[in-house]
Amino acid sequence: MPTPWQPQFLYAVCQHGAEAVLKRELAVRAPQLRPAFSRPGFVTFKLDAPCTDPEKFALPAVFARTSGFSLGSVKGERLHDLAAQLWQLPDVQAFLESHEVAGLHVWQRDERTPGERGFEPGPTILADEAEEAIRELSPIESLRPDSAAGRSTPRNRWVLDVSLIEPNQWFVGCHRTTSRVASWPGGVPDLELPEHAVSRAYLKMAEAMSWASLPMSRGERVVELGCAPGGASQALLDAGLEVIGVDPAEVDESVLADPNFTHVRSRSVETSRKVFRHVQWLAADMNVAPSFTLDAVEAVVKHPGISIRGMLLTLKLPDLALVDEFPAFVERVRSWGYRDVRLRQLAFNRQEICLAALRSRGQRRVLRTAGTRKRPTGKRPSGPGISTPPAAPAPSDHPESPI
Ligand SMILES: C[S@@+](CC[C@H](N)C(=O)[O-])C[C@H]1O[C@@H](n2cnc3c(N)ncnc32)[C@H](O)[C@@H]1O
Repeated sequence: MPTPWQPQFLYAVCQHGAEAVLKRELAVRAPQLRPAFSRPGFVTFKLDAPCTDPEKFALPAVFARTSGFSLGSVKGERLHDLAAQLWQLPDVQAFLESHEVAGLHVWQRDERTPGERGFEPGPTILADEAEEAIRELSPIESLRPDSAAGRSTPRNRWVLDVSLIEPNQWFVGCHRTTSRVASWPGGVPDLELPEHAVSRAYLKMAEAMSWASLPMSRGERVVELGCAPGGASQALLDAGLEVIGVDPAEVDESVLADPNFTHVRSRSVETSRKVFRHVQWLAADMNVAPSFTLDAVEAVVKHPGISIRGMLLTLKLPDLALVDEFPAFVERVRSWGYRDVRLRQLAFNRQEICLAALRSRGQRRVLRTAGTRKRPTGKRPSGPGISTPPAAPAPSDHPESPI
């Protein structure tokens, strides 16, 4: 019997500056992990004992964009040499001998925090060139440049990961595509800010819709609390929804001109509850403390005659120590009758996280295009992350467990 593969080292990708809070979160939720090598946006850990069931292992972390097992690292000055070294790594060879690898994810570590000096996470020219070099030397037919598999990796398969920690230092790992986010290289959906977007909040909302897979359908209504100037509302409009934006601040003229958009110019507490009648979905992106956002949302969802099916809430984190309150946030939303509550720091979030809530997990939308990397979803009318027509429930879709 060959020795089973039982890895003991892991890696996780996070936002620049979120390393300490990621470690803090895991110290509570996965105390069997010890932090090891770390760079801004990239952290490794050692398990206190080898992992006996790597297929099932998941890192329970809001701040981990993606994660997997370590297989080694290579250093060098030329792409071709780095790619050649990678395929020679003993742990890579041992892994390939015992596992079928269906995909290759190559990405560059974030340079800065999202939105800082125009930086946005996602594909880079260097990562594309590195991927090409790696595929050219691949001993695995399905990863060769001309293979039919392309960049799309089916669900529940192994993927080989290459993270460009520095241009001349590549970290190699692997992970299972057990969730939609696990099929995005580096945990970043392939989105670009469309030209018509009035704020980068467009990206946040597009990613939130894609990650959360709420069963939104064209023509349904959503209220966004804190909508100005209107980028996130545009992503909702582009997805075919009717949007009511609540905000005392000015909304961009181009958004106001959309016949499917209505601006209610007031603060959330002053807004008539009638606005929320016949509305299926609620979003919030107010620059206030999380407890204020949750108070405002509670006052809506618990009001008689209002029936919100699901929510996408941005919770601002002026202080990262708020991580200790995440379980209380989740419990609070559950107490309103939303049993499926998840938190994630989205790739396009800044110092904030996204909370997605549904009445039950069985309502989550089927992911027909899981694993595909499509270029901008921002063009009208086919917008981001929405089902047409509504699809059947998918109880097994997201294995990411709530807090
Ligand atoms: C981060 S901005 C929202 C960005 C917006 N979602 C977009 O897509 O462009 C935060 C907004 O929250 C609004 N806001 C703050 N407190 C609010 C409240 N109590 N009710 C409604 N809006 C509020 C602010 O006026 C501000 O426009």
